[in-house]
Amino acid sequence: MSVQKVGVAGCGLMGSGIAEVAARAGKDVVVREVSKEAVEAGRGRIEASLTRALKREKISSEERDEVLERISFTQDLADLADRDLVIEAIIEELEAKNELFGTLDELCGPETIFASNTSSLTITEMAAAVNRPDRVVGLHFFNPVPVMKLVEVVRTIATSEEAFDRTFAFARSLGKEPIAAKDNSGFVVNLLLVPYMLDAIRQLERGVASMRDMDTAMVLGCGYPMGPFTLCDFVGNDTTLRIAEIMFEEYREERYAPPPLLKRLVAMGRYGRKSGKGFYDYSGDEPTPLPV
Ligand code: 3HC
Repeated sequence: MSVQKVGVAGCGLMGSGIAEVAARAGKDVVVREVSKEAVEAGRGRIEASLTRALKREKISSEERDEVLERISFTQDLADLADRDLVIEAIIEELEAKNELFGTLDELCGPETIFASNTSSLTITEMAAAVNRPDRVVGLHFFNPVPVMKLVEVVRTIATSEEAFDRTFAFARSLGKEPIAAKDNSGFVVNLLLVPYMLDAIRQLERGVASMRDMDTAMVLGCGYPMGPFTLCDFVGNDTTLRIAEIMFEEYREERYAPPPLLKRLVAMGRYGRKSGKGFYDYSGDEPTPLPV
């Protein structure tokens, strides 16, 4: 039985992208946010992204309207009760995720699969907290969700073959390229990407080269779409700090330890693009490097 009814809990940067790609693939989507304001902000994000796709002539205005019609918004978790699959993309805190899945465990039918879009927490810790550990998986998307082709589909030692296969097929039905990953903190991409980003910050602290030159180096020298500091600002320095803290807690390896400069930027509210300032200042036409 293929997944048709999708629930998305949390409609921030990732949740809104996940809801959009699911609706664009013809799924019936219910998005849940905690407040009226959060619902409106989430809806605005999806509309803005669809408008962008429309301007780039990737979709017609009829398709845009149809996609929006397939997404309904709610503040009530009970509206996710009939979903085949619920994907959570809420705050990166295990307690919050477990509380959410705990409530959904009571509300949803036994067949509903629970998926987490966590970047660095382990799926096992979420599976262990519900009565359906065999139906809990990781489904990790990448930012910007409508563009990035990869989805990591994560199984724990308790995930059933059937739940894994259904989730894998669901990811493929979104037009994504799924890969199978074991449940370790960071899965595949963040396991490799996060130490790279943190190392770039450490080399900046050591004064190896300027921020802009290090960004240019990785774009022109390696063909990366963005240099490490542009990428940090794109992902969000607060997000990278949180991921690094979780991964360091898990592995106790220096490569995951958050560098002091990252902590200082976050303390100053320099989260990156979303706050207008990070390693760069985004208030002008072109990003300009800020003092670090
Ligand atoms: N939403 C929707 N579409 C977007 C978008 C967005 N936010 N940003 C860009 N796009 C689309 C554009 O519409 C365009 O589509 P088209 O070429 O088919 O018309 C395409 O992406 C390219 O956009 P642009 O020409 O405007 O810009 P770039 O060529 O500079 O590409 C980029 C932008 C796709 C973001 C590219 O720079 C990139 O791939 N950067 C790296 C992103 C990355 O590494 N993401 C992973 C982060 S890690 C993560 O998410 C894991 C988490 O756990 C931390």
